[in-house]
Amino acid sequence: MSENSKDKAPSRRQFLSGAAAVGVGAIGAGAARAAGPDPLITQVQEWAQATGEGVDATPYGLPIQFEKDVVRRNVEWLTADTISSINFTPIHALDGTITPQGCAFERHHSGAIELSKPDYRLMINGLVDTPLVFTYEDLERFPRENRVYFCECAANTGMEWAGAQLNGAQFTHGMIHNMEYSGVPLRTLLEEVGVKPEGKWVYVEGADASSNGRSIPLEKAMDDVLVAFKANGEALRKEHGYPVRLVVPGWEGNMWVKWLRRVEVTAMAIESREETSKYTDTLEDGTSRKWTWVMDAKSVVTSPSPQAPITHGPGPLVITGLAWSGRGSITGVDVSVDGGKNWIPARLAAPGTDKALTRFYLDHNWDGSEMLLQARAKDSTGYVQPSKAQLRDVRGENSIYHNNCIQTWWIKETGEAENVEVS
Ligand code: MTE
Ligand code: CO
Repeated sequence: MSENSKDKAPSRRQFLSGAAAVGVGAIGAGAARAAGPDPLITQVQEWAQATGEGVDATPYGLPIQFEKDVVRRNVEWLTADTISSINFTPIHALDGTITPQGCAFERHHSGAIELSKPDYRLMINGLVDTPLVFTYEDLERFPRENRVYFCECAANTGMEWAGAQLNGAQFTHGMIHNMEYSGVPLRTLLEEVGVKPEGKWVYVEGADASSNGRSIPLEKAMDDVLVAFKANGEALRKEHGYPVRLVVPGWEGNMWVKWLRRVEVTAMAIESREETSKYTDTLEDGTSRKWTWVMDAKSVVTSPSPQAPITHGPGPLVITGLAWSGRGSITGVDVSVDGGKNWIPARLAAPGTDKALTRFYLDHNWDGSEMLLQARAKDSTGYVQPSKAQLRDVRGENSIYHNNCIQTWWIKETGEAENVEVS
């Protein structure tokens, strides 16, 4: 530390040690340390008196037992069974931006199937010069790309339209994950088969019983769509479409077909399938929006939040969360502690990248009073995330899909938090 810095205002570090020494805010760690010597510091612990586990005890590592709460969770009453169902990423307990595969949400319409690499086939047919079938090994021989993208189910936050309902960021905003994909651009494979001039759409389907068929405009298919076989460096997990899934950056999760088996080039969108017509947004007057594929800019404070309450007293508090946009990158996030009356610019952990999660932090000095905590994202198109009232003005309350409104957590003086709405 230089001489000069001593003259400056107390640093965060000085604040923390100062508080402990004089017993200010006698809560949590500060109070415990002030009460007497800490055996965790003064005594040789059990784990330092014997050897630990050898290598190979767990050939494929799992999180330590103390982290067993950081898991996907299902909301039982949402679906009749777990086959056509959804679970949620524990975003309240994660940091950074990459979602580990083991806790990335799952959404299946007919369960997760087990399809081996030798049994894998991808057919590209329809309005093409040469219909082709690719094996897994064939796909590995095309030039590959690595890209980080978020995948958000169109139904994320869908239960919150009519009022604050689910108590936790995991449940309100956890139908999202963000991974680094390795794969071949769909464009490369479409060029291999040769798209006829009449070809304007691709109909993509999976090998599972639901097939989850969707039509994607050719323009998007030729742009940034990936035929992916690795996520975060390793093979896709069964539940995320092993061995091959489609990655459709910025677009609703339903189009990210898992266990990808066929791509048909068509002149028009195939909309006869139930899945395709289902993903529409019903408005107040009973009419519906359709072809709302892009996920608009959105953000959420992940901590503090109902599942991640504040466990210490007043003073330094890290407020953190995630922001994303399917239309580009996040350029800024503002945080409000008073229900949207005043906004403070948050710090982005890294500059926002295209169609990927951005982590934000607000290093706050909490005075111990209650807060109405909100985050508001801005993206590279200039779009600003709407309040719940603004979104309802345009969309009514009959929708399920595409709810990207500002979320409010009521943080109480005890540090506990609750999902609420502010008018
Ligand atoms: N692909 C197939 N083949 N079957 C499915 O049930 N579900 C879709 C999509 N792709 C689905 C599918 C939906 S609605 C979503 S939100 C994403 O996969 C979820 O991907 P994940 O399970 O990897 O999170
Ligand atoms: Co979905």
